[in-house]
Amino acid sequence: MEHYTFDLARFKSFVQPGMTVAKSPGRINLIGEHTDYNNGFVLPAAIDKAAWIAAGKREDNRIVLYSVAFDQHFETTLDDIKPAALSWPNYLLGVADQLLKAGLPLTGFSAVVDGDVPIGAGLSSSAAVECATIFALNALYGWSLSRKEMALMTQRAEHEFAGVKCGIMDMYASLFGKKDHVIRLDCRSLEHEYYPLNTGAYTLLLLDTKVKHSLASSAYNERRQQCEAGVHMVQQRYPDVASLRDVTLAMLDDCVPHDDIVYQRCRYVIEENMRLLAGCEDLNSGNLQAFGQKMFATHEGLSKAYAVSCAELDLLVEQARLHPQVIGSRMMGGGFGGCTINLVHQDGVDAFIKDASAAYFKAFGVQPEPIMVRIEDGTGLA
Ligand code: GLA
Repeated sequence: MEHYTFDLARFKSFVQPGMTVAKSPGRINLIGEHTDYNNGFVLPAAIDKAAWIAAGKREDNRIVLYSVAFDQHFETTLDDIKPAALSWPNYLLGVADQLLKAGLPLTGFSAVVDGDVPIGAGLSSSAAVECATIFALNALYGWSLSRKEMALMTQRAEHEFAGVKCGIMDMYASLFGKKDHVIRLDCRSLEHEYYPLNTGAYTLLLLDTKVKHSLASSAYNERRQQCEAGVHMVQQRYPDVASLRDVTLAMLDDCVPHDDIVYQRCRYVIEENMRLLAGCEDLNSGNLQAFGQKMFATHEGLSKAYAVSCAELDLLVEQARLHPQVIGSRMMGGGFGGCTINLVHQDGVDAFIKDASAAYFKAFGVQPEPIMVRIEDGTGLA
């Protein structure tokens, strides 16, 4: 999959008459990390890299899948949907499973999947495939699922078929993306607001570490449990608290001993929500420098208190700190690999990539991959 080049014409050559085609993007997140499953705020946006699905009804009860990128086929039947050993079919099967659980009259279908969201780079290629799948099937069968329902169903698909107890951010960003806007999503009410992203002379640059540590999903689920443990401790004194969203730093100080690891985790989440809200004010007033400082602070929190970074991500953020034309940088997504997101003056992009890559190569013997992204609309039919 390394350096896979998506070819739309090739994908289309597999599309048969009667198939419905949907496209759903990957995402970035400007600030608000590990807050979604704590009912907090996130600030993602959909990008110009997407998963494509073509789906068509069959006369029998088989589910016949083909991945163009992997050149692999997978087949099962409607009454035998379960997590597969291959990973890519699970994103489609998990969605089919949710549709059946919701009582929708899904029949046998064929689907072709392809796309250009890099896998394992922290750009939510899995959510992109899930959202493209549900969107295509919803249109194919003429159901009227709302985007919000689709987000909730694909999140459950990820929980049950990919084993990651993820929050709602990735699916929401993919389904609700809007060109040139970030989405401020309140993960408690599921209400969102769009903010135009005017970065002026600054560019969003991703640097892919090219690493994905195998402990990523177990550590992710563990962080989630630690946050729940914190909520439980706070609830002993404040029974109305439902999630970390309802907890202030004073309440946390009151209820969780400072030397408990749970304290560190929860404190980071509470601070990150505050940082995000203040960061939106920065965007409103066009103060990108202040926004960038908050990205650095987020990284510090993710690396030390939340402990979801790794040496590779830390080095790239350290390199960003050394460059005067980089005004903000942090690891993005779940962590333990994937990308950093950087706010870089357009005149400094080349020099930053060159210097950061040289330092990275010296330390790890690998080149990080720069990925330029544009902010685009969310899921749609194609
Ligand atoms: C992963 C999850 C998201 C979110 C981020 C961290 O991308 O899928 O739900 O929790 O990590 O912010």
